Amino acid sequence: MQDPLTKVAGDGSKAGEAPVVKARGLEGVVALDSELSFIDGQQGTLIYRGYDIFDLAEHTSFEEVAYLLWNGSLPNQQQLDEVKVQLRAERTLPPMILDVLRATPEDANPMAALRTAVSALAHFDGEADDMSPEANYRKAVRLTARTPAIIAAFDRLRKGQEPVAPLRDGSTAHNFLYMLNGEEPGPQAERTFDVCLVLHAEHGLNASTFAGRVIGATLSDMYSAVTGAIGGLKGPLHGGANIEVMKMLLEIDRTGADPADFIRKKLANKEKVMGFGHRVYKTVDPRATILREMVEELSEERDARQWYDYSTAIMETMASEKSIYPNVDFFSASVYYMLGIDPDLFTPIFALSRMSGWTAHLLEQWKENRLIRPRAEYVGPRDLKVRPIEQR
Ligand code: CMC
Repeated sequence: MQDPLTKVAGDGSKAGEAPVVKARGLEGVVALDSELSFIDGQQGTLIYRGYDIFDLAEHTSFEEVAYLLWNGSLPNQQQLDEVKVQLRAERTLPPMILDVLRATPEDANPMAALRTAVSALAHFDGEADDMSPEANYRKAVRLTARTPAIIAAFDRLRKGQEPVAPLRDGSTAHNFLYMLNGEEPGPQAERTFDVCLVLHAEHGLNASTFAGRVIGATLSDMYSAVTGAIGGLKGPLHGGANIEVMKMLLEIDRTGADPADFIRKKLANKEKVMGFGHRVYKTVDPRATILREMVEELSEERDARQWYDYSTAIMETMASEKSIYPNVDFFSASVYYMLGIDPDLFTPIFALSRMSGWTAHLLEQWKENRLIRPRAEYVGPRDLKVRPIEQR
C-alpha cells in the first residue's frame, strides 16, 4: 500500500518514464547508499560504520570516531597517533581568519560567525579546489581541526578577550575547552565533552548533511559544501534546537514554573517543545539516553540538581501527553550549560563535532558521485500570455 505521505506526482513524467514519487520533506525517501551510519528509528539504535553508539561513547574518543568515519575502520594505536598529529598540525587559524572574526560584530549569531569564517578559510587553503581524494582528506582534517579554534576565538573576541593560541598536544576536546576558557580543563570536563563530540559526529542524511552532499554532488569544493551544511544546522528544527532547550530550562528556573504545567501550556498553545521529536526516531534517541545519564551525574556533582529534575519532568510530560521522546538536543543543552558554556555556543559545538561527519559524507559522495537533483511538482498556472508592461 502506498505511504499516505508519498504520492505519484503528476508533474509531467513522460510515457515510459518511471513515475515521479512525491514526499513532502522527502520523508521516507532513500536518496543514496551510505556506509557511514545506520539508524533504526523504531528500536532507537544508532550505528557508526558498524559500531553501536553506546559502545563508541564508552570506549572511543572523538579522534578515533573521526578516523573511523573518514577511513571506514577504527584506528590502531599508530593510526590514531598519526591522525592526532595531523589534527594538531592544522589547529592554528590563518591570521586573516582572526581578522575576519575581529571584524564580526560582537552580537553576531555565533553560527553566522562560524559560517562566514569557515567559508573564508577556503581563501587561505591552496588545496581548496583540488578535488583529488588525498587533498579532500587533508581538507577534512583541516576543517575539523580549525572549527574549534574559530568558535573559541569568536567567543573570546566578543567578550573583549584575546584569542588563545591552540595547544600543541592534547585532544580536540581538551584543546577546545582550553582555547575557550584560557585554562586547561580537568579530566572529567574533558571526557564529558569528548563523549558529546562522539555522540554528535554523524547521523545519516539529516538536513545539514544532505545539504552538504547536494552541494558536494555538483562537484563544488569541500568548503562550499560544509558552509552550506553549517547554514542548515543553524535552524531551530535541526541543531539550533539545543539553544532553544536551554532558553526553556532557564525560563522555568527563572520563573519558578512547574515544568509539567509549563509544557502542557505550550502543547495547549500548539507550540513545539524543542529537543523533542525526530523525523526518524519514533522512540528515545539513544544519544539522549547517554546524555541523560551525563546530566544526572553532572547535576549531582555540581549541586545543580534542578537541570536534571526539570528535564526529567519535561520528558515524562511529553511521553504521557504526546508520546514524543527526547532527541540529542534535549539533554546536551544541560550538559554544556553545566560545563560553563554559553547557550548560544551549543549549536556551533554541534557543528564542531559534525564537521567530521559532514566531511566523511563528502569523501563518500565523491567516491561515486551522482548529481542530486529532485523535481518539484508544478502547481502554478499555465497558458498565461505576457501582456505589455503598461497593461499589467
Ligand atoms: N513538540 C510538540 N509536538 C511535536 C514535536 C515537538 N517537539 N515534534 C513533533 N510534534 C508533533 C507535531 O506537532 C505533529 O503533530 P500533529 O500531527 O498533531 O500536527 C507530529 O508530532 C508530527 O510532527 P512533525 O513536525 O510533522 O514531524 P517531523 O518529522 O516533520 O519533525 C522535527 C521532526 C524534529 C522537525 C520535530 O519533531 C520538531 O520540530 N522538533 C522540535 C525541534 C527539535 O528538537 N529539533 C531537533 C531535531 S533532532 C537533532 C537535530 O537534528 O539537531
